[in-house]
Amino acid sequence: MDTMFRGTMRINGQGHLEIGGCDCVKLAQQFGTPLYVMDEWLIRENCRRYKTAFARHYPKEARVAYAAKAFCTLAMCRLVAEEGLWIDAASGGELFTALRAQFPPHRIYLHGNFKSDEELAMALGYKIGRIVVDCFEELERLNVLAARRETVADILLRITPGVEAHTHEFIRTGQLDTKFGFPLSEGIALEAVRRTLTLHHLRLHGFHCHIGSQVFETKPYRIAIEEMFAFADKVRQETSFVMQELNLGGGLGVRYIPEDDPPTIETLVATLCDTVQEMAERFHFPLPTLAIEPGRSIVGEAGTTLYTIGVVKEVPGVRTYVSVDGGMSDNPRPALYGARYFALVANKANRPANKIVTVVGKHCESDILVRDIPLADPQPGDLLAVFTTGAYNYSMASNYNRLPRPAVVFVKDGKARLVVRRETHDDLLRCDLLGEQTDA
Ligand code: LLP
Repeated sequence: MDTMFRGTMRINGQGHLEIGGCDCVKLAQQFGTPLYVMDEWLIRENCRRYKTAFARHYPKEARVAYAAKAFCTLAMCRLVAEEGLWIDAASGGELFTALRAQFPPHRIYLHGNFKSDEELAMALGYKIGRIVVDCFEELERLNVLAARRETVADILLRITPGVEAHTHEFIRTGQLDTKFGFPLSEGIALEAVRRTLTLHHLRLHGFHCHIGSQVFETKPYRIAIEEMFAFADKVRQETSFVMQELNLGGGLGVRYIPEDDPPTIETLVATLCDTVQEMAERFHFPLPTLAIEPGRSIVGEAGTTLYTIGVVKEVPGVRTYVSVDGGMSDNPRPALYGARYFALVANKANRPANKIVTVVGKHCESDILVRDIPLADPQPGDLLAVFTTGAYNYSMASNYNRLPRPAVVFVKDGKARLVVRRETHDDLLRCDLLGEQTDA
């Protein structure tokens, strides 16, 4: 269990879980539950570990772009700006949030397999750092939009290197069955470069690839880097374009349950930097500007969700269900991906966890959050802390069953800062209309 305590988490003198110097019981009283609690120190520490590791291992410019899809709010974008990172935005909404947080536009990447004209226009209008182009149609459309504005778009091409990684497994094929990017196979990616070089309102800087998420191995990254250099070499021979930038996407996994053992940030970064330098030498390339886009590994372990336990129901001889006041609307990952989580009773954090229960949410379906987990005598009114909910929880939350979405607090040095207020029932209706008929 100790392995699950990270950042500023500890058990205080009252036997309560404490994060960022704040007693979780008090946080729940002050802000209500469910509540997302983010350990601000740990988020900043993760940002710094990435930057420090690149500074140590890479002699040229390296950019760490926080993948906003993991958790995107004004306060988070502001924090990322303060830490000097870039941001990877996957939509106009994420881009808008970053811009509203006064994130420097020149440090933003825009992604997406279908970016609308509005999204591309916003990117051009704010002169964001890089647009990562995903397909031929987008190349043409972006060129026209940039021409109309009498500007030149700075782009990378997203390449599908034929490596796909998930936790302990990765597959390597000539052609991946994916909607993303230009495949290396059939000379398609090469054709994309050729086409780009004829479009005068696009400025190509290099290539991007993303091999997967919650990855526990470094080997697939090595393979992807090798593939990308082999491709860049071919491009140079055929077109004389020399890759200046290489963006390797995100993917580093985090620990959700004690058995999880992902590589450290330092191990991943060292592998990436060593491999890129090795390949640059092998293929006689100048060292490219290197970029990565970590999301989960920056915020995942920094987040904890606090719930109030409402009902404890024993189905004799089968199992005990512990119902909490949230569920799949604030954390859809167990339902979507079969994701596993660790939890403890936050107000009994120093008591032995000796009752195996199944934690369920309050939605009108089975809504299992954590299956078969030992907890310390959970009772109605107790506070349950589910760990590692910082990534892809708030950002994927919904209003299913018309549950208002929880508040988010940043905690640090004994202080809590509300960064997303709890939704009210009125908020649930803010876009609802009874509607008047109009001619259509
Ligand atoms: N860059 C690109 C182009 C991506 O597609 C992603 C994630 C990232 C960076 C960040 O990856 P990370 O470092 O967070 O693994 N909703 C799923 C995860 C989907 C990830 C999609 N792309 C989940 O909850 O597990």
